[in-house]
Amino acid sequence: MVGGGDGAFIGAVHRIAARLDDCYEVVAGALSGNAERALRSGTALRLAPERCYTDFRAMAQAEAARADGIDAVAIVTPNHLHAPVATAFMEAGIHVICDKPLGISTAEGVALAALARDRNLVFALTHTYTGYPMVRHARELVASGAIGDVRLVHVEYAQDWMAEAAMQSDEFQRTNWHNDPAKAGPTGCTSDIGTHAFHLVGFVAGMQPSELLAELHAFTPNRTLDDHVQVMLRYPNGARGMLWSSQMATGCENALKLRVFGTKASLAFDQENPNELWLTPQGGCAQRLTRGRVVGAAAEHATRVPSGHPEGYLEAFAQLYRDAAARIHALKAGLPVPEETADLPTVDDGVAGMRFIDAVLASHRAGSRWTALER
Ligand SMILES: NC(=O)c1ccc[n+]([C@@H]2O[C@H](COP(=O)([O-])OP(=O)(O)OC[C@H]3O[C@@H](n4cnc5c(N)ncnc54)[C@H](O)[C@@H]3O)[C@@H](O)[C@H]2O)c1
Repeated sequence: MVGGGDGAFIGAVHRIAARLDDCYEVVAGALSGNAERALRSGTALRLAPERCYTDFRAMAQAEAARADGIDAVAIVTPNHLHAPVATAFMEAGIHVICDKPLGISTAEGVALAALARDRNLVFALTHTYTGYPMVRHARELVASGAIGDVRLVHVEYAQDWMAEAAMQSDEFQRTNWHNDPAKAGPTGCTSDIGTHAFHLVGFVAGMQPSELLAELHAFTPNRTLDDHVQVMLRYPNGARGMLWSSQMATGCENALKLRVFGTKASLAFDQENPNELWLTPQGGCAQRLTRGRVVGAAAEHATRVPSGHPEGYLEAFAQLYRDAAARIHALKAGLPVPEETADLPTVDDGVAGMRFIDAVLASHRAGSRWTALER
């Protein structure tokens, strides 16, 4: 693991997710940019002292040289380090599991995609919410034609943590990497959670917009980057969509909600109730589909415990790790990519996310003009 040291947010979640299905052991880490903290954090995880690194490049080289070196690296640093870290490990022949967004520019994302392809390495991107069985079931329903042709999508990802008094302080704005364009990238909320919403709606609806119109906003005084974004979407088949993400949405914890409207029926998913999916036929009653009871290969592949026993965020995260492990094992055995891992988000999804950020910025800067979305 690179990043995820003492006091970090998402690294510990990755470690739980990696180990949930007995697919990985955590054996080495460059867990912080601060040497003392990196060593302290590695010791706390009981890593062997010689595998607690203070520099990710040294770690990549040392691990590649070991007979028992790591198969994969988990990258859980701030955004600006994703590309340098992923590059160092891929150049050492090591598979990558990287958190989103892919990086801070499309150019570096495109280079990562090329490197992964050239070296024939797995590059998983942890768009966590696509690991939920009911999200995968929704994707399968749309692809099967169960809701007809998609004509409208609506996705919102609303949080309120940035509105907390401590986060509104000048001190936080000045020192936290989320507010620093050199570390977060050219957008704030858009990169942080807008990319999750963008990926989720494309994953389920099975289509990508060709144009968008966006407005970025910062409610926080003296903030460089957006803490709110609203976007309208046009699709090549004539469908229309709306996406908004905010970290200033009072009272919202992690409110990621998706609705997809087809010509025959609509679907609704709420991340805070991930064991259910609502299917409503035109003119009919809403049906509550539940994990463990729905019949479908995608949901069954991503389910661990029997119906009625809730699964959640950690299992969704673990699903991405499990799919990545299946791909790594297949590659090592010279086998084709296992079909059942087709839902795993990859570096290509990351590039699409970076192009989304580019188009949002370009539209906003042009006074919220309709802007083509590059493929
Ligand atoms: N998938 C998700 O839902 C999700 C949720 C939260 C965060 N994230 C992403 O995960 C990444 C990390 O976010 P976070 O909230 O955990 O950040 P954080 O600031 O809490 O943790 C970042 C970690 O990276 C370490 N780090 C910094 N420079 C380093 C270096 N040179 N070498 C090694 N380690 C270094 C820090 O010491 C810290 O341990 C971000 O890209 C963020 O967008 C994803």
